[in-house]
Amino acid sequence: VLNISSLYAQTGMFTYDPGFTSTASCESKITYIDGNEGTLLYRGYPIEQVAENGDFLETCYLLLYGELPTQAQKEDFVHRVTYHTMIHEQMTRFFAGFRRDAHPMAVMCGMVGALSAFYHDSTDISDPHQRMIASLRMIAKMPTIAAMAYKYHIGQPFVFPRNDLDYAANFLHMCFSVPCEEYKVNPVLARAMDRIFILHADHEQNASTSTVRLAGSSGANPFACIAAGIACLWGPAHGGANEAALTMLAEIGSVDNIPEYIARAKDKNDPFRLMGFGHRVYKNYDPRARIMQKTCHEVLAELGIKDDPLLDVAMELEKIALSDDYFVEKKLYPNIDFYSGITLRALGFPTTMFTVLFSLARTVGWIAQWKEMVEDPSQKIGRPRQLYTGAAQRDYTPIGQRR
Ligand code: ACO
Repeated sequence: VLNISSLYAQTGMFTYDPGFTSTASCESKITYIDGNEGTLLYRGYPIEQVAENGDFLETCYLLLYGELPTQAQKEDFVHRVTYHTMIHEQMTRFFAGFRRDAHPMAVMCGMVGALSAFYHDSTDISDPHQRMIASLRMIAKMPTIAAMAYKYHIGQPFVFPRNDLDYAANFLHMCFSVPCEEYKVNPVLARAMDRIFILHADHEQNASTSTVRLAGSSGANPFACIAAGIACLWGPAHGGANEAALTMLAEIGSVDNIPEYIARAKDKNDPFRLMGFGHRVYKNYDPRARIMQKTCHEVLAELGIKDDPLLDVAMELEKIALSDDYFVEKKLYPNIDFYSGITLRALGFPTTMFTVLFSLARTVGWIAQWKEMVEDPSQKIGRPRQLYTGAAQRDYTPIGQRR
């Protein structure tokens, strides 16, 4: 009480909101979520329409500039992004400093942070031109860095970008081509990859985006801010959930074991949670999860995978959970991570790459949010207050008198 009063006296107002469940940290025009309705809009356009009709670079343009591009604007944007797909040759040597068995997300944190050491000609955030170049560089180089992190992880030589391919197809090429055999891009799989990128592109003030904004509020350069976002995304409650969801589905193993795991998820003495279920904002079905589920079926059908035991477990788990009182009352529905793991695994990615792919796709959202903040004249350094619960003021005790 003493502390709240003193803070109130200092500020005139004080709110205590752990996890920021009901505090808006900024104004934004980029993404809108109605968690009760299960609606997600990018610049006003429903995610279902963007994912069905658009492609990822068009989505990037929309998030960055606020409008869908005309044909000429899109061609120019694609040209400007593909111009930046290479990374500095010296950066390729940076990988060698990491242990081979390092988690690729650890490598991503380091590599993306290091971009500011290589591209310091685009770190002056007061210059709009530099801000745009940094944005294009981030969007263009993330697939190259992510693919290199993957290749390093599995001990294969790096594959350079092919600018004649589209964004998603080029990424699959860099991940799966080997010097003796060029990966033949399957358009259905490339489209699925592209859609996964679209679905992950932005999601308003989630933990990693808030991290990027907070880091950027001090004037830090965009590469450093995105590295901070990647670190935050890594956690299993956030971007790490798709990896954790797939691990959980494998652990459940069979539909017969589902009741045991449902019981564990409901047991307050058991820390276990159904990974890929629940969301801070969605209290309805995550619209991305629905598109993800459809994409998952398309990928498995294209690959001729008729019976995927993990998909069987996932579908049954969803069915049982959605009719269970505990999940119904708490409004816990599948989120995007529930089906993305199965899809990414079918595309050929190991679980350790799942969050890396998420970070690649979310980069445009981070950059768009960072730009919006930097360009907002009312922007201030982010500086939350705290509710102090420590010792009251007391006198320093000399070391000889301490007990
Ligand atoms: N399984 C079982 N119970 C759950 C789950 C779950 N997945 N999620 C929430 N609950 C329960 C909690 O135990 C809590 O119960 P209580 O009210 O009896 O204490 C209640 O639902 C509310 O949960 P909170 O953790 O308070 O909700 P919060 O909004 O803070 O958390 C979160 C949201 C982190 C996503 C949570 O639902 C969760 O841990 N889910 C599993 C991880 C996951 O899938 N994360 C991906 C999120 S989407 C993304 O980042 C792309």
